[in-house]
Amino acid sequence: MYREVLENIFSVGFVDWHVRDFHGYETSQGSTYNAYLVKDEKTALIDTVKEPYAADLLANITELVPLDQIDYIVCNHAEPDHAGALAEVLAAIPGATLLCDKKCKTILSKHFDISGWNIQVVEGGETVSLGKRSLRFYETPMVHWPESMATYVPEEKLLFSMDAFGQHYATSGRFDDEVPISTAMAEAKTYYANIVMLYGEEVAKLLAPGVLPEIEIIAPSHGVIWRKYVNDILDAYRDWCVFRPVPKVLVLFDTMWQSTERMARAISEGATVPGVEVKVIHVRRSNLTIIADEVLDAACVAVGTSTLNQQMMPMMGATLTYLKGLSPRNKAGFAFGSFGWSKGGAGDVEEILREMEWEITRKAIRSPYRPTDEILEECRQAGEELAIKALETACAD
Ligand code: FEO
Repeated sequence: MYREVLENIFSVGFVDWHVRDFHGYETSQGSTYNAYLVKDEKTALIDTVKEPYAADLLANITELVPLDQIDYIVCNHAEPDHAGALAEVLAAIPGATLLCDKKCKTILSKHFDISGWNIQVVEGGETVSLGKRSLRFYETPMVHWPESMATYVPEEKLLFSMDAFGQHYATSGRFDDEVPISTAMAEAKTYYANIVMLYGEEVAKLLAPGVLPEIEIIAPSHGVIWRKYVNDILDAYRDWCVFRPVPKVLVLFDTMWQSTERMARAISEGATVPGVEVKVIHVRRSNLTIIADEVLDAACVAVGTSTLNQQMMPMMGATLTYLKGLSPRNKAGFAFGSFGWSKGGAGDVEEILREMEWEITRKAIRSPYRPTDEILEECRQAGEELAIKALETACAD
């Protein structure tokens, strides 16, 4: 099945309703692997799909044009969710020329035997004419792989943006105005947090004035196409790439016998002041995808763990390993947690918060076994301090 994007430009990719694990990303709403067909005097396929869905892609294309009439296949990104079907697609369309940048060619050569492929290396700024329309290439290194590229159709002000602005969101709607916009924006935020967050500086460079051309349509490689809410998603990316904080206090914790949980609850009670959103996440009952999403725009984060085997609890270890990799910036917070005969847990957390260059608002709050009333009051005060800090940070930004 295909959908028309504009006259003679079609969405021909695959809607993956059932995927729930995308290399660890919990895709609760599935995903799509978007590919696009631009028909003109010459015809170009923009990207492919995951390898298992090559036949679906080819069937969608065949509804529109005989395969031997495709002149170009653009590979904007070598990751297998978009390039995985290339071997099968090129075998079905042997006359096509593959357009990709130099780094992409190198990466493709590590995934495939490319010796029989007709590859034309393109550079940023280069244009390939299709007839009435053309394709102009923009290299977007580290958004989010080294070889990442976007393809622009100047005649339509349409940007095939690759992963940028994407969402893991399977839906029958192909456009932002065909789905609940709050869901599309929420999925775009989750996607940014988990896939793009580490590369905020590169995103900021890309979004600086004068770098990208005028855009009226953004056709990403996942999720819906932006045509009504283009400025909204661009503005959201401008906020996310600099970690613009909202007045939110996030309390992350794991607990053995509810002592650390009692501390988390007291912190959240203290943080509950007007104008501040408080969220409490038991990391073992949530998942890394949601946690990264919540951390992205939180002004302040308190992180707590019980001490197990002289160190933080395993799921907190996984959480902080994941967050450290994503490198969230512009956060303030502190560590807390209970212990029995060894103080490891909260100290481990505090060390990682420092490694992430978060502002540490106070020394770790530690409770030997059950927190006393005094310790719970300290937690409440610490929560209130965080809330005030969150308000100040969000207002000052
Ligand atoms: Fe959707 Fe980076 O692949």
